[in-house]
Amino acid sequence: GKAQIGVYGLGTMGSALALNMAEKGFAVAVTNRETDWIGDFVDEAGPLAAQLHPHESLQDFVAGLKTPRVMLFMIPSGEPMDAMIEEVAPLLDEGDTIIDGGNADFHDTRRRAQALAEKGLHFVGMGVSGGEQGARHGPSMMVGGSAHSWEQLRDVLRAIAARYEDDPCVDHLGPDGAGHFVKTVHNGIEYADMQVIAEIYGLLHYGCVWSPAQIGALFSSWNEGPLKSYLVEITGELLAYTDPATGHPVVDVILDAAGQKGTGRWTVVGAVRMGQAATMIEAAVGARAWSSEKDTRIKAQDLLGGERGLLSLDEDILKEAFMAARVLCYAQGFRVLEAASQEYEWQLDHARIAEVWRAGCIIRSVLLDDIAAAFREDLPHGQLFLSPRFAEILKRTVPALRKVVAEAVVGGHAIPALSAALQWYDSMRQGYGTANIIQAQRDFFGYHGFARLGQEGKFHGPWWD
Ligand code: 6PG
Repeated sequence: GKAQIGVYGLGTMGSALALNMAEKGFAVAVTNRETDWIGDFVDEAGPLAAQLHPHESLQDFVAGLKTPRVMLFMIPSGEPMDAMIEEVAPLLDEGDTIIDGGNADFHDTRRRAQALAEKGLHFVGMGVSGGEQGARHGPSMMVGGSAHSWEQLRDVLRAIAARYEDDPCVDHLGPDGAGHFVKTVHNGIEYADMQVIAEIYGLLHYGCVWSPAQIGALFSSWNEGPLKSYLVEITGELLAYTDPATGHPVVDVILDAAGQKGTGRWTVVGAVRMGQAATMIEAAVGARAWSSEKDTRIKAQDLLGGERGLLSLDEDILKEAFMAARVLCYAQGFRVLEAASQEYEWQLDHARIAEVWRAGCIIRSVLLDDIAAAFREDLPHGQLFLSPRFAEILKRTVPALRKVVAEAVVGGHAIPALSAALQWYDSMRQGYGTANIIQAQRDFFGYHGFARLGQEGKFHGPWWD
């Protein structure tokens, strides 16, 4: 018989997804650019091998699929994806769907969807989160594309997705680039949450002289409460490891220069382009960039001094500050999603996005259940931080964030994400801010004009009389 779905690209993620589908009882056509080891891959699948249909060529792979066809491509998302589309499109028929399951720039996804639509073909940009384990046993998936494609895909994706209680963490979130953009913002939030965790680690380690193992135990204890999340859990775990070669904590032998593949940056660029500013995510992207200038930092420490003062922060204050920062981070992320939803007319359902993130993905946390609930309630101005439940949490926890930021700043500790959180909060809670001065300056030097409080129209200052 023919396969229900095809998976092209049997790297870490592709092979894990194919095995997950096979395990859920679907017949899966599989192939890869190099084909010599596909036989071994199928043999190693043991009892799942019967569900896997290996193919040596793209032609056979396409021919081995039920029509209308659905093919998931797990290959690098840039030029290789364009090259692949060029190669596969002539083999397809109207109504077939090509899925890009990589971390793609949603602009590329929109362009590809449009070009393929002209040929009657469907292109789905699908964000897949959860790493290899997630892909194998239950990822979170963010699907963008046509209703037709969703109809074709829904059963397979619901079967392989992570589950939160009984709810599969996958949904059709909007047309063309919507799925990939939501995944991009997921990663932006991931960057900021990771950075906040790293900053709290730094305050405890350098400011309070706690050992990595002690800090790990603290994170593990936080993972029992309202901060429970995958990133807190793994940080608690990884801080407990010792390097076999040196006997030091593993984190102490790791070079402090962070990599990044682009999704965090795309979130920031996308936000700025839409007149938004996800400053915590930008801080996290910037912190990774600065971290990789290791030589400059060593020289600067020599020249300018690298001292960091001791801090008198207790764990409860840090816990509250973390909660405040995490809420503000999600608030910024969802604000960017709303901007994109308006700009591209996606009609994103924020509550559903939060639900799709509740299990399987890297940013899964207990907070997402409250976020989904908040979006289903009455939300002033669509802003998460104004929802009654989050406004209450912020009122309670921001004083701790303020104390942490203040102490850290005086002590010379770098806390770009925590301070960005507080700066955004303080900017947004001022009903009357300082932009009147900006407007006066713009009018003074350039006759740009300003609006007057409570009056329609454009005015100029007496400096022009
Ligand atoms: C996920 C992750 C995953 C990966 C990204 C971010 O949701 O499973 O976000 O997609 O970690 O590639 O990676 P960088 O930190 O390398 O940019």
